[in-house]
Order: sequence, then C-alpha cells, then structure tokens
Amino acid sequence: MATRSPSVVISDDEPGYDLDLFCIPNHYAEDLEKVFIPHGLIMDRTERLARDVMKEMGGHHIVALCVLKGGYKFFADLLDYIKALNRNSDRSIPMTVDFIRLKSYCNDQSTGDIKVIGGDDLSTLTGKVCCFQTITPSHGANCCMGEPELLMGKCYPSDVLTGLDKMLRKNHMNVLIVEDIIDTGKTMQTLLSLVKQHNPKMVKVASLLVKRTPRSVGYRPDFVGFEIPDKFVVGYALDYNEYFRDLNHVCVISETGKAKYKA
Ligand code: HPA
Ligand code: MG
Repeated sequence: MATRSPSVVISDDEPGYDLDLFCIPNHYAEDLEKVFIPHGLIMDRTERLARDVMKEMGGHHIVALCVLKGGYKFFADLLDYIKALNRNSDRSIPMTVDFIRLKSYCNDQSTGDIKVIGGDDLSTLTGKVCCFQTITPSHGANCCMGEPELLMGKCYPSDVLTGLDKMLRKNHMNVLIVEDIIDTGKTMQTLLSLVKQHNPKMVKVASLLVKRTPRSVGYRPDFVGFEIPDKFVVGYALDYNEYFRDLNHVCVISETGKAKYKA
C-alpha cells in the first residue's frame, strides 16, 4: 500500500502569530484574525516539495498543470524550485506548463458546482465551459450563481483540455496538477478523472494545503505542504470572493473581513 504523503501538520489549537509581528497590507488590517503560515515557511516547505516531485516524477517530461486562480503562487514558486534543481544537477527534464480554471466557492462555502474552464484550447474565448454537477450542496446552494447558463449540468469534455490531450497522447507525459488547497477533495477527484481520460503516463497532485474536515471524501494528494485545521484561510493567492490574493502569508480571515467582502 502507498504510504501517506508527509506534510507539516498544523494542530487544531495552533494560535498562529499576531498580525503586528509581520508586514500586512493596511487595507486588510481589520480583516484578518492572525498569520497562520508565514510566507518564508511556505517557501521553505515548497523547496522540499520540489525535491520530492523530482525524485518521483523526474524520469520523464512533466506537464505542470496549474489550477487557477488560487494555485498560481504555489505553482510559480514550486516550478522555480524545480527549475533550480534542473539547472544545478546532471539529471534534468523538460517541463511544460498549462493552466486550468475551476470555480466552486462563494463566500466561505462550496456551491457544489464545479466549473472547469481552459486547458490550452480556446474554450474560454469561445465561451464553451464545462460544468460538472458533482455534488448536491448541503448549504450555500445557488449562492453566487451569476452565470446560470453555465450551471445546467451540461458537460462538453471534448471541448476542454484538448491541447493538453494532444500533448499527452503524443508524448505520454507525466502530469503534475498543482492546487492551492484540498478541502472536501471532491473538486480534485473530478479533475483527476477528467485528466486520466487523456491517458497520461502518470498523474500526481501537489497541494500546498490540505484541510482536516469532516466533509472530506478521504482524498489525499501525492505531495502536501501543510495539513491545516478546518478554518477558512486566505493569502498567498487563496481568496475570499477574490480578495486577499494580494497577501503574502496564509492567514485566518476575521468576521469583519467576511462581512466586508461578502458577495
Ligand atoms: N480558503 C480559500 N479557498 C478555499 C478554502 C479556504 O480555506 N477552502 C476551499 N477553498
Ligand atoms: Mg484551488
């Protein structure tokens, strides 16, 4: 049996750090409870994850697939560390990148609908969007469904990931999906089954964060930065209704912040 991916485990009673101990943008001064994972610690952990990724996947061309928007910081920093390994070692492999956009959150609740957009084709430009009705939400239903025509449960899998598909079939590549956070795990299960339909040589998932939550379906990524308590966190590209991506540290949002940026 595969061993459980190791991670830095942050306990439920972790107090975090007082905001005054770090540099926080003034516009968020009232909107955060505490600094949970300082930026420097994220970077140090990411450096080690890059080494782990290369050890397991470094035998073949890697397609690194960034899950936008929340994954972009982790993706950029992880790839920078992988590139550093490639240029400082006798053994190196080419890496290409692709980007996919998923959306399932509104305020701090999952809407239960996952929209998949992009993947190296023109689906975003032609307005073709793939929507998977994956779960029946227990709460937050119909929240923020500003694009109801996209949420009819229609699915056009041949319209998404087509560029990626061609590359995977031709070259039998290793796919590394890079995500910011695994919460319930349902989104990643959906994306994984979609990517696997394209027959890559190997698919692995790296997530900066994994949340310990009773809502989890039990999915665990291959590479995990930090395991965190069941709190809503923001910063380092993780958002609350698009805010807080412009914050370096991973922080816990305050009630004031939730109210101020509520959709
Ligand atoms: N923060 C930001 N986005 C998220 C979270 C979170 O805690 N959980 C799932 N998506
Ligand atoms: Mg994400």
